[in-house]
Formats: sequence, C-alpha cells, structure tokens
Amino acid sequence: MNTTASSTPTTAQLMQSAQQAGIVVPGFNIPYLPMMAPVVQALRDCNAFGLIMVARLEWVKFESGSMKAIRDQYERDKDPLHTRLHLDHIPVIDEDQFHVPYIEEITEAINMGYESVMVDGSRLSLNDNIAATQAICEVAHAAGVSVESELGAVMGHEDGPMPPYEELFASGKGFTDPQEAKRFVEETKTDWLSVAIGSIHGAISAAKKNEKKLEARLDIAHLDRIREAIDVPFVLHGGTGIRKEYIMDSIKHGIAKINIATAIRQPYEQTIDQGVDKAQQAVYDAMLHVINNDIEIAGSAGILGLTQ
Ligand code: 13P
Repeated sequence: MNTTASSTPTTAQLMQSAQQAGIVVPGFNIPYLPMMAPVVQALRDCNAFGLIMVARLEWVKFESGSMKAIRDQYERDKDPLHTRLHLDHIPVIDEDQFHVPYIEEITEAINMGYESVMVDGSRLSLNDNIAATQAICEVAHAAGVSVESELGAVMGHEDGPMPPYEELFASGKGFTDPQEAKRFVEETKTDWLSVAIGSIHGAISAAKKNEKKLEARLDIAHLDRIREAIDVPFVLHGGTGIRKEYIMDSIKHGIAKINIATAIRQPYEQTIDQGVDKAQQAVYDAMLHVINNDIEIAGSAGILGLTQ
C-alpha cells in the first residue's frame, strides 16, 4: 500500500480540511470486532474517509473486547488512505452512574496509538466538565492527539424511559448553551465539540437495542447560535436515523464529524445467526447506504487529498 508522507495528514488536519470543504467525517462504532473489516472495505471501495472508533460501553456491554483488542484489529484492517483510529465516549460518569477512571483509560489509549480521543463529562456540572476536559487536553495535546468533548445532553444511552421526543425537542432541554460552549472551548482548549441540538443516541440496553430508532430532527438555528459564539469543528452524536435534510443542513452549518453506530450494528446482530460472512456482508451493505445515501461522502478521501 502506498503510504507516502503526503498521504498521512493527522486526524486534526483532516477534520479542518473537511469542515472547510463542507464534507463530514463519519466515525463508525465497532461493538463487534468482525465489523471492522467491512467498514474499512466500504470506505475504500467508495474512496471515502472515516474514523474507526470504539466507545467504552462497547467493550463493557458489547463484544469489542477491550481498547487493545480494537487497536490490534485496527492494525490488521486499517487503510491509512481511508481511515484513522478514534476513541469514542470515555465517560467521567457513565450511563449507570459508575465513576470511570477516565484519565488512566484515555492515557492508556494515547500510549497505545489511538489518534484522537473523546472525554465525555456531559453528566457533570459545567465547572467539573471543564476541569475533566482540561485534564485530558493537557495529556493528549502533549502527545499530539486531538480531543473531542461534549457539552449538553445527547440522551439515549440511559436504561430508563426517555421523555417524549417532541417535548424534548420543542423545549430545547439539554441543548448546548452557546455562552457555556464559548467558555468551555476557551478554557479547555478542546479540539472538537459534541453539541446537543436534537439528536439522540441509539439505545444500547438489552431491552431496547433492537428497536428501530425514532427519526430525530436537528435545531439548525440553535447550531448557528452556538457557532456564532464559538467556531470549532462540531460533532453530531446519534447519527443514525436523523432525517437526511437535517444532516445535510447541519454539515453546511458547522458539523464536521458524525457518529454512526446503530445503522451498522443492527444489521450485524440481525444476521450473525447465519454466520460471520453473512453478518459482515450486512455491515458492508449498510455502510454503502450510509456513505452514498445518508451522508453523501463517496469520494471524500480524494477531496481531502488522501487519494488521487
Ligand atoms: P447512533 O447509534 O445513533 O448511530 O449514535 C452513535 C453515537 O453517537 C456513538 O457515539
């Protein structure tokens, strides 16, 4: 494989270029190790660029094994012209109210070769979220690794019942506050900010993880208010099932990264009884749909200068 110097910009550089070019960088979650190969293959076949990522809950509640198992699998499957490795949600307090040793775990990931990391202090007070994110930025930036963090409440991972979606959306409860976002970014020096503007995470509890996700909407005017206060690459979590016109609009208004899990996890789980080959094919087919239809990024590796 050709990996000349010009083909290896950092994830941070690629995110900046994507935002300038008006294209989105998707992050694909890998809750089962055999999902990784078809995700990489689909990106390659579509000449697209994306992040391969794992969240803590995917080795605790699913079957990705550990952050080392994902890193090792990535070393086998990666394609530097089309992929980078990202660590998704390491929460300070998780969806079950467990206090995670987040500094130790993220430091371990950085030492292991993860190229960007996320610290999720969104269940903390503003001051505590700032302190936690600052601590991670110091460690990560010293190693040349970019940091994503979250402000506001992107719900869905919790076990209990959710308030009705339309009520949530109309009230804007939990949406990222623009002035808090400005203070947060300035004080933490976070590289990318996950914002709450209407999306929700796909359910992960055993009772709900197979359900079809509801069709979320996005408050683009609210995203504009955040961007007027502070302009960094913004991240959209809960990328599955958002109505397409909202996704395309949000990219024009500053969303530079979109996280996608449920859209590729459910096809894998629904076919794994028929064998790994069938399940990998289902993931590959779902990937083609996401790349070509949902977020329209076919050819993005070329636009970002990674390929011809
Ligand atoms: P979906 O499950 O809605 O695709 O969300 C994924 C996500 O945001 C992971 O961080």
